[in-house]
Amino acid sequence: MALSQSGPARDGWSSRTAFILAAIGSAVGLGNLVRFPAEAGENGGGAFVLFYIACVILIGLPVLLSETLIGRHGQAAAPESFRKVAEHSRKSTAWEHVASLGVLSAFLILSFYCVLGGWVMYYIGIFFADIFNTGITGGAFAGVSVQEVEGIFPAMIANGPVTVILNIVFLAITMYFVSRGVSGGIEKVAVYLMPAFFVLLVGITVYGLFGGAIDQTWDYLFTFEPEKLTGPVMLAAVGQAFFSLSLGVAGMVTYGAYVGRNVNLGVTSGVIATADTLVALLAGLCIFPIVFAAGLSPNGGLGLMFQTLPHAFQEIPGGTLIGLAFFIMVGFAALTSSVSLLEAPTAWVIDRFRFTRPVATVMVSVCAAIVGTLCALSTGSLAWFQPLGFIPMFEGMGVLDTLDTLTGKITMPVGALLTSIFIGWVANKRLVDLENGLGGVLHVFWRFLVCWLCPIALSAILLVGIFPSIIE
Ligand code: PHE
Repeated sequence: MALSQSGPARDGWSSRTAFILAAIGSAVGLGNLVRFPAEAGENGGGAFVLFYIACVILIGLPVLLSETLIGRHGQAAAPESFRKVAEHSRKSTAWEHVASLGVLSAFLILSFYCVLGGWVMYYIGIFFADIFNTGITGGAFAGVSVQEVEGIFPAMIANGPVTVILNIVFLAITMYFVSRGVSGGIEKVAVYLMPAFFVLLVGITVYGLFGGAIDQTWDYLFTFEPEKLTGPVMLAAVGQAFFSLSLGVAGMVTYGAYVGRNVNLGVTSGVIATADTLVALLAGLCIFPIVFAAGLSPNGGLGLMFQTLPHAFQEIPGGTLIGLAFFIMVGFAALTSSVSLLEAPTAWVIDRFRFTRPVATVMVSVCAAIVGTLCALSTGSLAWFQPLGFIPMFEGMGVLDTLDTLTGKITMPVGALLTSIFIGWVANKRLVDLENGLGGVLHVFWRFLVCWLCPIALSAILLVGIFPSIIE
């Protein structure tokens, strides 16, 4: 039972492990499973992977620690936590608006993330149905042509009723867990689904490795091609590191607020970032052996997961079951992320308007369903509606792509940039040092990163993201 009803005692994680699993659950999601492998393969393999890891350690990790420590100090929703740190540092409380921007970003990402969650559910459905049509021993979709299998994706995203309904179903599942509170709902999803996710990921990876295409995978993912590491690619890597660690959207501040005083945030941030990066790498080692074993060449972006892979599952033994297990695994990862995306705005509504958790959850979810419906339709009948199309960086984009670009290229980096400035330059040093759990050289290094490297790197992403011609 959530503690929130019993006066000042607040609901929170029941253990350090629960917090770590929930935070890893937030971090591990479609970003790791869809975007990272595609980008690593296309953008120079080993050089990209090394650069990405450097971004996680030097830029992602310091911001992750900053966000969780603000939450833990404030013990409240993200804007309130920022305000408390500002107040206790005798600085302007206007800094709370950094977190308000984060809450807005989380809401916007939630709105389109659940549409993608709905697509994943659709694929779970078709692989499940295939068990009855094809059986489980041979490849998936027996007797169906490649064109038809690859055609499932464009047909699905153009089908408004299907995408809208699945979006709402995915959102409703997310809402159910968030409405049950931190220890009674959010934590439960993470504690059950994350271990199941890891088992599926490792299982499918081992299966793929036995399939034999490991050499090709290794070459594709890890061949060192530094000349492919151009300016835009490096910036894409930093952006990907941020998205993957769920930074700049108030989510980790919100999760940090439920952490007990006895937890060392320096250590937990390290564990979370390591796990997130390992999953991204494993996702590549899971997906490409299956693709190469089927004799296919991977295509980029969403096509890798929703077209190339289903086709690959046609070619491999037990493809139906492996395909089903694969999409269930992706669904688990997406759910533990969407839960954190809904929790950030919900916690804010509870704090700000004093609504009960169930009421706040329903309110935020209804709003997300409305924006989500626009996103769901934007890949079909509403493609003509390009709300920011008059601005060059959003030209030709429907609602879903607009929100993805707006959050990924503008609001998330701005949120993370201001957070690093807040912790590095504004917040009281003693307060920060008491919370961060770091000592010695590590502490000095972290200070350097938060004060200098993070603001400079994040300003660069922002500038180039908004004015790409700078590096052309
Ligand atoms: N990190 C998640 C992923 O990789 C996405 C996410 C972003 C979740 C921001 C929460 C907050 O898919």
